Amino acid sequence: SQPVIKMNNGVDIPALGFGVWQMENQQECENAVVKAIETGYRMIDTASIYLNETAVGNAVRKSEINREDLFVTSKLWVQDFSYEKAKSAFRRTLERLQLDYLDMYLIHWPFGDFLGAWKAMEELYEEGQIKAIGVCNFTVEKMEELKSRSNILPVVNQIELHPIFQQKELQVYNEKNNIITQPWSPLGNGNADLLDNPALKKIGFNHNKSVAQVILRWHLQEGFCVIPKSVTPSRIEQNFDVFDFQLSEDDMKTVRSLDTGKRLFFDPKDTEWEKKMLNAVADI
Ligand code: A2P
Repeated sequence: SQPVIKMNNGVDIPALGFGVWQMENQQECENAVVKAIETGYRMIDTASIYLNETAVGNAVRKSEINREDLFVTSKLWVQDFSYEKAKSAFRRTLERLQLDYLDMYLIHWPFGDFLGAWKAMEELYEEGQIKAIGVCNFTVEKMEELKSRSNILPVVNQIELHPIFQQKELQVYNEKNNIITQPWSPLGNGNADLLDNPALKKIGFNHNKSVAQVILRWHLQEGFCVIPKSVTPSRIEQNFDVFDFQLSEDDMKTVRSLDTGKRLFFDPKDTEWEKKMLNAVADI
């Protein structure tokens, strides 16, 4: 059995899962998820805007894994943020995934009427149609707003986080509030500067592991719930092979020292980005 993290509602989530952002090719996605489940991954992290929920659902069905042994996460897209829209978007997500419940459902960005969406998610959670509800890309301010205006505390906050951009303030906030930090793009999206970093290479050499494995181990030892993405079978295996070694406190300090404070992707405080997302054409 693999390590799990207990969330604030008592539900366990596998500490290491499989991310499928940037897998819009349906066959590639299906093959990757089949390979991941074969390898031992038991948590799959998708989103309606990734446009691959059907492929994920096909892979899950093909794998013939017991439903209760699998943890499936999806995310509600920003254009479905109202109480009514959220309910029907959730139905469509379940249909595409060919599932009758979700293990976790997340608000994708803290934009628009996310409070209305959260209300719908709270009800779906109370009805047992979702086993845990959480958020992505929430800043401290947005989290405080959600907390003060809703009944259920999110179980996770999924945020951009990797050695180059560590978001210490949010890490501390999440921990204080009993919210699991779930890094997205944990490998910095394959960023070459990161994967070629000499200090990380040295740590990897000492443990007979790759830089990617060192980074994933760092996330796990920080207590994060980590979801690397790969479509490459050997990397899918490699990224799961991180439970047989331990980084020293010095190793951990070295990784922590690589924080540049600069994100690689979208800033949740960027109102232009928010406007663009709320108005873009997304047929999902
Ligand atoms: P690919 O999917 O072509 O195998 P992140 O999860 O941080 O967004 O990173 C995903 C990116 O990192 C993808 O481009 C993926 O490439 C690459 N990647 C995933 N695992 C590894 C690995 N073990 N070594 C090198 N690159 C990797």
